[in-house]
Amino acid sequence: MMTPRSPSAPVSPLLLVFLLFVSVSSSLCSPASLHDAFLQCLLNNTQTLHGQQQEPSQMLHAPTDLSFPTLLGSLVRNRRFNTSSTPKPLLILTPSHPSHVQSAVVCARRTGAELRIRSGGHDFEGTSYVSRAPFLVLDMFNFRSVDVDVEQETAWVGTGATLGEVYYRIWEKSGLYGFNAGVCPTVGVGGHLSGGGYGNMLRKYGLASDSVVDAQIVDVEGRVLDRSSMGEDLFWAIRGGGGASFGVILSYRVRLVPVPNVVTVFRVWRTIEENATELVYQWQNIAPRTDNDLFMRLLLQPASSERQKGAKTVNASVLALFLGNADRLVSMLDGEFPELGLRKEDCAEMSWIESVLWWGDFDSGTAVEALLDRMPKSVSFLKRKSDYVQEPISREELELLWDKMIELGKVGFVFNPYGGKMGEIPVSDAPFPHRAGNLFKIQYSISWSEDGTEAEQSNLGKTRELYNFMTPYVSKNPRRAFLNYRDLDIGITENGENSYKEGSVYGVKYFAENFKRLVKVKTEVDPQNFFRNEQSIPVLPSKVLNMSLQLN
Ligand SMILES: Cc1cc2nc3c(=O)[nH]c(=O)nc-3n(C[C@H](O)[C@H](O)[C@H](O)COP(=O)(O)OP(=O)(O)OC[C@H]3O[C@@H](n4cnc5c(N)ncnc54)[C@H](O)[C@@H]3O)c2cc1C
Ligand SMILES: *[C@@H]1O[C@H](CO)[C@@H](O)[C@H](O)[C@H]1NC(C)=O
Ligand SMILES: *[C@@H]1O[C@H](CO)[C@@H](O)[C@H](O)[C@H]1NC(C)=O
Ligand SMILES: *[C@@H]1O[C@H](CO)[C@@H](O)[C@H](O)[C@H]1NC(C)=O
Ligand SMILES: *[C@@H]1O[C@H](CO)[C@@H](O)[C@H](O)[C@H]1NC(C)=O
Ligand SMILES: *[C@@H]1O[C@H](CO)[C@@H](O)[C@H](O)[C@H]1NC(C)=O
Repeated sequence: MMTPRSPSAPVSPLLLVFLLFVSVSSSLCSPASLHDAFLQCLLNNTQTLHGQQQEPSQMLHAPTDLSFPTLLGSLVRNRRFNTSSTPKPLLILTPSHPSHVQSAVVCARRTGAELRIRSGGHDFEGTSYVSRAPFLVLDMFNFRSVDVDVEQETAWVGTGATLGEVYYRIWEKSGLYGFNAGVCPTVGVGGHLSGGGYGNMLRKYGLASDSVVDAQIVDVEGRVLDRSSMGEDLFWAIRGGGGASFGVILSYRVRLVPVPNVVTVFRVWRTIEENATELVYQWQNIAPRTDNDLFMRLLLQPASSERQKGAKTVNASVLALFLGNADRLVSMLDGEFPELGLRKEDCAEMSWIESVLWWGDFDSGTAVEALLDRMPKSVSFLKRKSDYVQEPISREELELLWDKMIELGKVGFVFNPYGGKMGEIPVSDAPFPHRAGNLFKIQYSISWSEDGTEAEQSNLGKTRELYNFMTPYVSKNPRRAFLNYRDLDIGITENGENSYKEGSVYGVKYFAENFKRLVKVKTEVDPQNFFRNEQSIPVLPSKVLNMSLQLN
């Protein structure tokens, strides 16, 4: 294990090389010299600190490498951050062993550049691979082992694995278990679990991060820590507080969840002319209160009316997963949700793993191996925002909302019901604070395929207008937001000196009363704020001041 290097240790010759690099980087220093200095640092650390032979050169990729653009672009999941004007990293690091991550952290600290950590690359604002400051990307895709222990009902999952790989590996071992994480199989474990990811079993089992029982992290000193050596505070923080503020998470140990032999899915829809208003109004009361085995997601999309040529309408679709058979589901909903008019022929019974493919939008009959494919079918330009609803929106207000959606024409909503287990887990249990009292979460969703700033500005503008329109109907003081639907509109840290003040703005929206504890943990484990991004957890202001004194 690597010896921790205290920040106050005497300045090493290497540090001088890097400081020189950083101070002149804007003028004469070429990326090639950074590459060489970094390699030398890796070599030195590898030999002296690990006593083992490795090939650190293979984990370093400079912008001059032919494969650099493909390597950088292959894990981009929002085309807005894959353009020629998107800031590019000085180096990409692709470790394949924990000791590589240890030396990468130690050497990255000495460069003065930011280190951005990427697992699945699905961050909606690209924070895992874009920064305005000089930066390096640490890509975790080699850390993708998934070791399932059916007897213990747990699995160790590498942060570079995708959710699809996790579901597949569990299914390979046993059809009796699944995992309560997100519905899109290409999402990465690293961002998803550290940010409090959820999926269609959250009303039964809570968030993916609620199922984490252990973790391995490389901290700012380059040490590998597990739950017992990192302590309960840091372990608490990386189950929903976002990994990027605390260190490089190598793997999580998760608890598997039991799934029945047969599950049921359905999708039904109504337009405004077909009484969508009543359906949506009732959905708000029923979906968060129904049986915990039932998850009914509601999608709202502006659409063309099928009844009146040229007229616009809103299309409300309900997509559901039920952990049981169709007969039980139909009779249950017949009683509690007659507005839905669910019939047995709307339902499809299948195994849980088949339902994963159904939710992933694969054609029926697709082989389960499709879950191992890391590439999504297509990648668009996207913007997402989030809100929480605590009081049902009235029928009259819904009518106003339809008018607004039709006027804007492109922005859709995804309503995800809470309740069930989500309402039972205490707010202090994990950083994710949106538990009891929240009926559902809203995702604002817009995707487009036209290049250029004109389309972008128009689509961002419409999304923000709809968000403003929703102000009276959603949570207040703070207006809550979901970290994994990252949205830089709600506040960013721009200035190191003010990072606590700036960080509190978005911090209380994402974490409510848990923000304070996150700041405390952050200040303890990374007082110099090495692990940072536009929306990371800030350190306490007094420490920032001391840090800037040290630097000058
Ligand atoms: C198509 C799509 C579908 C989605 N569906 C869902 C869904 O069903 N449910 C849901 O909850 N969310 C969903 N999301 C959001 C998703 O959960 C978050 O974007 C999540 O953070 C992505 O994780 P990642 O590893 O793929 O992303 P990355 O972009 O790699 O990382 C996201 C953040 O986590 C940090 N990070 C990543 N890996 C590590 C690590 N090993 N150690 C420390 N920090 C790390 C990054 O630096 C960055 O800040 C979806 C997103 C997309 C694009
Ligand atoms: C690496 O180690 C060698 C031998 O100890 C030393 O001479 C050299 O300065 C070191 N280089 C860096 C960049 O630390
Ligand atoms: C991003 O750009 C790179 C290089 O131009 C390309 O190889 C990659 O496929 C692109 N990624 C996406 C998701 O469009
Ligand atoms: C809409 O509701 C009204 C009143 O409840 C009912 O008469 C009508 O048949 C419904 N329309 C549709 C298409 O379900
Ligand atoms: C409504 O959405 C569903 C998909 O959820 C789609 O099949 C249907 O055609 C849409 N209806 C209209 C009128 O757009
Ligand atoms: C700053 O650091 C010094 C010593 O490192 C310490 O004594 C002092 O209390 C710190 N100041 C604040 C405001 O935390």
